[in-house]
Amino acid sequence: MSESRDVSALNTSRRYNEWVGGKDHTSVERESTKTVLTVLPNMLAAAKEGRAVVMRAVGDLVAECGIRQILDVGAGQPMKPNVHEVAQRIDPSCRVVYVDNDPLVAVHHRGTVMSRPEGRAEFQDGDLLNVDELFTGDQVKEVFDLGRPVAVLLASVLHLIEDDDVAYASVRRLRELLPPGSYLVIVHGTFDTLPEETRQAVRRLLATGKHGSYKARSRAEIERFVEGLELREPGVVSSVEWRPDPAKPPQASVADAMCYAAVAKLP
Ligand SMILES: C[S@@+](CC[C@H](N)C(=O)[O-])C[C@H]1O[C@@H](n2cnc3c(N)ncnc32)[C@H](O)[C@@H]1O
Repeated sequence: MSESRDVSALNTSRRYNEWVGGKDHTSVERESTKTVLTVLPNMLAAAKEGRAVVMRAVGDLVAECGIRQILDVGAGQPMKPNVHEVAQRIDPSCRVVYVDNDPLVAVHHRGTVMSRPEGRAEFQDGDLLNVDELFTGDQVKEVFDLGRPVAVLLASVLHLIEDDDVAYASVRRLRELLPPGSYLVIVHGTFDTLPEETRQAVRRLLATGKHGSYKARSRAEIERFVEGLELREPGVVSSVEWRPDPAKPPQASVADAMCYAAVAKLP
């Protein structure tokens, strides 16, 4: 049984929802969060910064790069603001397809996500491990013009794929299938900024198998996902350093953010 169908099991998308300030979580996730915070006391601020950089990247892609189609893979529970709200504030005709492999996420999106009438915001069941199927899904086919660029958000999802071969193969296949001029947005957790003692404590916690899967990657490992692509300035940097918003000072330092962000353009 998948973790999302067994209500007594930890659901990592609900736990993430708690971390970014949402209300959709249960005592199971809250207990896990308490334990995680004993090892990583700044985890909530780090998650919020990971979410904030996605919103900045979406705003930048729509306002500055002409993007009007966004595929959000590993979208998570609907949040305020949602990706389509940020995009449609700049251009109401923006079209967004949210994808997640968690059936609970699907239920919440289908019940609550409302697009501006000029654009679209739909949900499609899908898995980053089956990239080909993402592009043959009904919503992607109906909502997007696949002759035009699409920005694909891979935000806090690649680090949930522990097997390197699988993670790199999925991104490689995405790059092959996307229209020319498309963009990849990658937000990915790292232990680069943690002292060795903390890394070991996190590894011990993950080894219990009670807190979900997680594969932190180094900056060099994250750069491999966008190798050969044109990086949007400032390149692969800490989430808090990617085009920070002067009006919203970061809630975490580079060390505490534990995350890299990158926006890359396909040829
Ligand atoms: C940590 S949340 C990130 C939410 C959102 N992208 C953000 O950055 O705010 C990760 C989401 O990815 C989903 N997910 C995990 N593995 C996935 C996969 N292989 N394919 C699609 N979604 C996946 C989880 O169900 C969860 O909702």
